[in-house]
This record gives sequence, C-alpha cells and structure tokens, in this order.
Amino acid sequence: MRTRRDFIERVAAYGGSATAVLTALDLLEPASASAPLALEGSGRGTRVIILGAGVAGLCSAYELGKAGYDCTVLEARERPGGRVWTVRTGTRHVESDGSAQTAAFPEGAYFNPGPARVPQHHVTMDYYREFGVPIEQFANVNLNAYYFSSQGSAELQRVRMREAKYAIAGYTAELLAKAVSQSALDTPLTREDKEKLLDFLAANGGLNKAYAYVNDGAAGFSELPAAGNQAGTPADPLDLMSLIRGGFGAYFQNEREFNQQPVMFQPVGGIDALPYAFARRLRERVRYGCAVTEIRKTPGGVRVAYTGIRGRSESIEGAYCICTIPLPVLRTIPADFSPNVRASMNRVAYMDSAKIALAFKRRFWEEDDRIMSGISRTDQTIAQIWYPSYGFFGRSGGVLTGAYATGAAARTIGDLAPRDRSELALRQGAAIHPQYGDEFLSAFSVAWQKTPHNMGAWVAWTPETRKNDYPVLSEPDGAIYLAGEHMSYINAWQAGALESARDVVRRLHARVRAA
Ligand code: FAD
Ligand code: ALA
Repeated sequence: MRTRRDFIERVAAYGGSATAVLTALDLLEPASASAPLALEGSGRGTRVIILGAGVAGLCSAYELGKAGYDCTVLEARERPGGRVWTVRTGTRHVESDGSAQTAAFPEGAYFNPGPARVPQHHVTMDYYREFGVPIEQFANVNLNAYYFSSQGSAELQRVRMREAKYAIAGYTAELLAKAVSQSALDTPLTREDKEKLLDFLAANGGLNKAYAYVNDGAAGFSELPAAGNQAGTPADPLDLMSLIRGGFGAYFQNEREFNQQPVMFQPVGGIDALPYAFARRLRERVRYGCAVTEIRKTPGGVRVAYTGIRGRSESIEGAYCICTIPLPVLRTIPADFSPNVRASMNRVAYMDSAKIALAFKRRFWEEDDRIMSGISRTDQTIAQIWYPSYGFFGRSGGVLTGAYATGAAARTIGDLAPRDRSELALRQGAAIHPQYGDEFLSAFSVAWQKTPHNMGAWVAWTPETRKNDYPVLSEPDGAIYLAGEHMSYINAWQAGALESARDVVRRLHARVRAA
C-alpha cells in the first residue's frame, strides 16, 4: 500500500509539477528507465560520499553533480571503471594469491577482461551518446565461427555454426512438416492454414518437395560458387542424431537470450571509454587509491574512513552515502549496517568467471578460417573463443579471448597459475585452431573471484535471495544506499549498475527535497 510519505517522495522526485502529481498517482506511465535523468530542483550542496568509481559510483556522482550535490567518490584502485577495464600492453594485474602478470600485446590490440559488448537497448548506449563516445559494432553471433564438441564423433567435433544451426532447424521443420502433412497433429488447422504452414516450414527449414531437410547452401558449401564451371556444391547435411548426441544444441541457448543479440556494440579502442568519460567530467571529485576501511552512521549522516595517500588513515563525512562496493568486498569492511541488512548481505552469492587473452603473431582466424569477429563455442573448460571486432587484416597480429568461462570451469581456470591457464587455453583451443602452436605470442588472464576489490564476477540472485534479501538491501539503511550491478534486475551488465545508480539518485533526491 502507498503511504503519504511515499507519495510526497514521488512527487518531489518528479519535480512537483502537474505531470509529477499524475505520475506519482500512477495515472501516467513514468518516463522510460533510460530517458535522460533530469532531476528538478537543486541538491543545494548536500554532501554525498560515494564508495567505488565503477560505472555505478561514477554515474551517481555525475547525475547528482548535475543537480548541485557536493559528491566525493572514494576509489580503492588507481583508475576509474572497476570491472569496466581494458588491458593494454604494460597493464599489470595481481590476484589475491599474489600471482602477477603484465600484458604484452601486438600494437593496437587490447583485451576487455570484464564487459566487452553492449546491447542496443541498454542505458549504457545513452551514456555513449551523451558523452560522444565513438562506438562500433560488436559481432556477437557469427555463423562462420565454430562449435566444437568433445562429445562429438571423430568426424563431427568442429563444425561451422551455420551447419549445426540450419541442420537442427531444418530437421525440426521436417518433423513438423511431416506431422502436419499427414494430419498427425491434433490442431484445428484449416486446409489453407496447413498449406501456409507447410510453405513456411519448407522455406524456412530448407526442405525439399517431400518435406525432407536438404542443405540448399544456407548451411555451407563443400565447394564455394565461383566462376567458369564452378557452380558450387552445398555440403552434405549433418546428421541430426549425431548433432544431438554431440551436444551441439546446447550452444544455441546463449545466443537466444534477449541481451545476447547478434548485433551488439563496443566503444572504439576499449570498453573503458565510458568510465574515463565520466571521470573526465568529475575530475578531482574522484579520489583514487583510497580504500574504504570503515563505514559509520553519525547523527548527521555518515563517516567513512579510508586509507589515503601514503597509507595514511583519513576520514570524510557526508549527509548521505551511496555504496557501490561489491558485496564480497563490502561484507569484509567494518560498518554500522543494521543486523537485517548485514544478514541479507551475507546470504547473497556471486558468480565466478575467468577470461584468458591470447596474443598471436598472425590473424590466422581471419586469413585461414575466414572468421571475421564473433564467437566460437565449445564444451571444453575454455567455453568460448572471441575473435576481435576491430583491427581486421592487421599486419601485427591480434588478441583473441581464448577462454571465457563461468561457474565450475572458471574456478578450474582461476585455481591455476597464470602460466598453466595459458597452457590450458592453448591446448584446448588448438583442437579448434591448430595454428595456435605456431602463432602464439603471450597470454594474460583474469579470474574475477580472485581479483582484489571485486572477489566475484557478478551477483547470482537465487529465487530465495531475490525474494527475501533484495528488498532489504534496496531500502536505505539510515543515510546509506546500496547501488551497483547487484542492486538491479540486469545483473552482469553495466546497464544494471547504471540503472541502479539512477534509481538511487532519484530516491535520494526525493528524500532531500521532501526533508
Ligand atoms: P564495479 O565495477 O565492481 O565497481 C565497484 C568499485 O568499487 C570498483 O571500482 C572497486 O575498485 C571499488 N571498491 C571496492 N572495494 C573498495 C573499497 N574498499 N574502497 C573503495 N573502493 C572500493 N556488462 C556489460 O554491459 N557487457 C558485458 O559484456 C559484460 N560482461 C562482463 C563480463 C565479465 C567477466 C564481468 C565480470 C562483468 C561483465 N559485465 C558486462 C558486467 C559489468 O562489468 C558490471 O555490471 C558493472 O561494471 C558493475 O559496475 P559497478 O559499478 O556496480 O561495480
Ligand atoms: N553480461 C556478461 C557478458 O555479456 C555476462 O558476457
């Protein structure tokens, strides 16, 4: 049930206009989540301490700053972005067990160990537009890439994605077409409906007149069409049961998720362009190398202690605090959280994830395999191979993401020393690209569960924690608001962090205006 306070807060949040009153009464739809955030009224210098300069913290400071708030962002790392991180030659990474690596990549090549792709509908794109961040297409699904299944028969381990996809779709259409044509389905189809359905199945599934799947070329050619007498020969269709037994169907799931669209986007030159764009606007309001050590409630709001320059212990006070520190780290920091908030925080699980970058002297995937961007998938520990969507035909080689694993496979990778991770990626990847051995230059890996200041890849809500703990953590604890990827329904995406920041900013502003 709506309370009076709720109502006042909502009116204040939308600026007190007639539209605001109607919106607060739910008589108008609120503006879409990703419309520009225009807070009406001023924060009048209200001091807000923001913990963490990932995209959630940066976005909070940027949006509150526009409305006149006095924000300070404390960030443990020496750079903005948190998980939104681009590794280039010279980047150093030390994991929680002390293992250290320094990247050495071919000229112009980079590696995004965290986020790397953005769907068209995410608010992330709105910030790219607002800041003029140049973007380019990221090919998420390229049917020229491979599926490799170690469970497949000797002849059916590595297939082009188009072969597997069109064969399974074709055989499924064949089964349905045969059932429909023999009236074996108990459906109220008129004769005309049936004809239309059969026409569709035949065209879409690549079926012949007898409704049998034949590869009409969509699944690939054994000899490509050219000139002279080379008309092209469609490859023989792959066998349905061999594909199913080989587990190839399992790879399709990832590609049908709403957020995993074929056409996605990336900032030109590295995913870290967005945090740097925020940071340029926030300037000295972000304090780097400042690790929060304590979060205390005070009569006037909050006091945050942190380790500042040269390891000195310092503290800062504010009327409010927006804390975007990921939960695996936050729960280790002494803080005055209420017992129910702390209990909820302790119950929330995080996903493990690891990526391994492999640098090569030659872009053999482009030259030999004709794979220009996209992703190959496999049931091996490495799970995926990503081909760069930039630098095509570059003469100084390039960097592949030679492994991108989650869950148990990520733990297997994370538990290895960096050198052993690279050996694993080279060994397993060579089953797909035999060129690996001759062309390898260097590797660089990141296991997020062992990465300081994160200690996890992204939140993993269960139905229970989402129902019982998410509502507890969504409410401010005194003057402290939690924000970040974990405090959203778009987990494992920058958009979740940005939407959560914008949500907290709206609610905090409503409270300040109502006070
Ligand atoms: P973070 O980026 O983690 O920011 C938290 C900040 O708090 C960090 O900067 C950290 O250093 C700081 N901090 C921690 N402890 C302290 C302390 N004691 N004192 C001060 N500061 C502290 N998103 C996409 O949009 N597209 C993708 O393709 C994509 N792929 C991903 C792949 C992987 C492997 C991972 C790990 C993530 C991926 N994401 C993707 C998700 C995206 O990275 C996150 O949702 C988003 O970056 C989270 O932002 P955040 O601000 O909530 O958290
Ligand atoms: N959002 C993460 C990715 O796209 C899971 O890889």
